[in-house]
This record gives sequence, C-alpha cells and structure tokens, in this order.
Amino acid sequence: MSTAATSAGEAPVLRAERLAKRFGATQALAALSFELRAGEIYGLVGPDGAGKTTALRILAGMIAADAGVAEVLGRSPLTAEASLRSALGYMPQQYSLYGDLSVEENLRFFARMFCLSRGEYRERRARLLRITRLEPFTARRADALSGGMYKKLALACVLLPRPRLLLMDEPTNGVDPVSRRELWALLFELAAEGMAILVSTPYMDEAARCARVGLIHGGRLLLEGEPARLLEGFQGAVLEASRAGPGGLAAAGETAAPERDRGALEAIAERHPATIATSVAGAAVRALLRPGAGVAELRASLEAAGARVELAAPSFEDLYLSVTDGEAARA
Ligand SMILES: Nc1ncnc2c1ncn2[C@@H]1O[C@H](COP(=O)(O)OP(=O)(O)OP(=O)(O)O)[C@@H](O)[C@H]1O
Ligand SMILES: [Mg+2]
Repeated sequence: MSTAATSAGEAPVLRAERLAKRFGATQALAALSFELRAGEIYGLVGPDGAGKTTALRILAGMIAADAGVAEVLGRSPLTAEASLRSALGYMPQQYSLYGDLSVEENLRFFARMFCLSRGEYRERRARLLRITRLEPFTARRADALSGGMYKKLALACVLLPRPRLLLMDEPTNGVDPVSRRELWALLFELAAEGMAILVSTPYMDEAARCARVGLIHGGRLLLEGEPARLLEGFQGAVLEASRAGPGGLAAAGETAAPERDRGALEAIAERHPATIATSVAGAAVRALLRPGAGVAELRASLEAAGARVELAAPSFEDLYLSVTDGEAARA
C-alpha cells in the first residue's frame, strides 16, 4: 500500500453516526458515533454484550442498522461493489478457517476467493507468513494450530486483498500474552503503513495500546479519546491499603494472617458509601472511589485499622467502572 498515513484534513476511512440496532427487546446499539482515519488504531472497548460485534457487523456490511449512518471509504458498507469489498477486511469474532486444510491451503483458498493473480499471491503469501511468523507451520492443519496461531492465520487470510480498513472483532480473545503482544505489534506495523484499524476488545488493559479508544457500554460510547487523556480525566480516586508492618493488623500475641487482614480491610472499604468496587492486588486491597469527601474519610478509617494507605494510579478498568457507576446512579 502506497498511501501515506494520517493527515488531519483527510476524510475519515470509516464513519459511524448515531448507529442504532435493536434485536427484539434488546437495544444492542443506541446512537453510536465515531470516526476512524488512515493509519489510526481505534479500540472499541467494552464488556460482553456491550454492542461491539453488532457495531462491527454493521460497519462490515453484514447487517443493516435500524437508524444512523455507516460509511466506509465514503460509501455504504452494504454495497456489493467489488472495490469496496476488497478494501474492507473483516475478521469476525469466530473466524472460520478450513480446519482440515493446512496453513498453506487455507491461504491459497482465500487467495482464489479474492481473485488474486499467481504473482500477487506469491508476493503477499511470503510477506504475510513472515509478519505472522507462520512460515515454519505452512504444512500444519488449521485445526492443529494454537489459538494465537489460528488468529494470525485468520488475519493473514483477511489481509490477502490488502484492505485499507481492517475490522477485527476481539482478535486477542483466547490468545496467550506473548501471542497477544505479537498480534498488537503486527497491528502497529499495518497502521504505520496507513491501514485504518478498528479493533474490539473486552480487555481494558488493551485500551492503552490504541491511538484512540471508545469505551462502550449498553450500545453507547461512554467516553472517547486518546488513552492518556482519558486517564488524566479520571475523576475518582484509587486507594491501596496494605497491612502496616510484619505484625499486620493482628493484635499483639496473635499470629499474622494476611488473608484475614486483607479481608478486614476489604470489608471496611466495601462498607464505605463512596466505594464503587474493591479488589485484592497482591498483599494490598484496592478500593475504587467516587470523587468527594469520602476519599479522605475512607483513608482515615483504613489507617485507624492499622493499614498503610496510598493513592494509586487509575487503570482503564477503574475508569470504566467509575463511568458506568455514574450512569447507573443517574438512571
Ligand atoms: N442476532 C441477535 N439476536 C438477538 N440478540 C442479539 C443478537 N445479536 C446481539 N444481540 C444482543 O445484543 C447485545 C449486544 O451484543 P453484541 O454481540 O453486539 O455484544 P458484544 O459487545 O460483541 O459482546 P461479546 O463481548 O460477548 O462478544 C447483547 O445483549 C446481545 O445478546
Ligand atoms: Mg462480540
């Protein structure tokens, strides 16, 4: 692909404007809007049932929206135009390869489906096998690949026609951390060449890898922006409480019992009205709090119970939980 990466004035490669979709009683999408430009990786981040797959299926032209506008390279994704079909790569959540065919045979099958010439196939096959590190496994049946390798082969098949836009639905689900890192490195490489990439994920920690993220919940975008900016805008607080010393919270003469200490601290945090969620992080108890006076109050209660308390940096999960809690409170 020779197109250069982003320039601010460039038309978006993908545009979703107030997309809505209902399945029976379920409003899967409600006024979902976002845009994606060449060279950009946009992450649609949200838990199960948030509406990620529905959004991607609409943008890939698999289903129609009930309302709103979906536009890919300036056209409706529902068009059957061959030029648009080959410019749009879609990797569904459950991508089906031919399990009894080898890596090589799967690639050849999809190359035929995309009507690649022999020369085009030879050149792209070599590059895709190299960047996906599947070269040593060309003879292996797809069914015998690991989860991560299977996803990479699926990606290689989707990339055969050299799409300008790549839509990937949870590509890292069920993939081990090493392969996950490799897959992300591959996405960065493709984006650097000018490809626009929309990736959905339920893993909050993957939000930080995207150029921009949209946090989606109940078919709506709750927050959107550059990951670092979103974290800067976090309004609540995260307290981390751990037992103060070797004796912990145990009274003099008692044996230290870290689990019991943590349990006691977690109970104090859970009871506090400012608390949104608590979790255990190693030897410490982590409490996510709404902004306000409660933060100092809970800190004092935990310290009174003998804990050492520190303010911790928020994660995307904290941000997500704190924003959804806000919405629930208004409902
Ligand atoms: N074909 C369908 N028929 C009925 N309900 C559907 C259909 N597709 C999606 N839904 C519902 O719409 C909502 C959004 O589903 P969607 O699959 O888009 O979520 P998701 O974010 O992709 O979730 P997951 O992380 O589990 O893949 C869910 O409540 C789901 O049950
Ligand atoms: Mg899904």
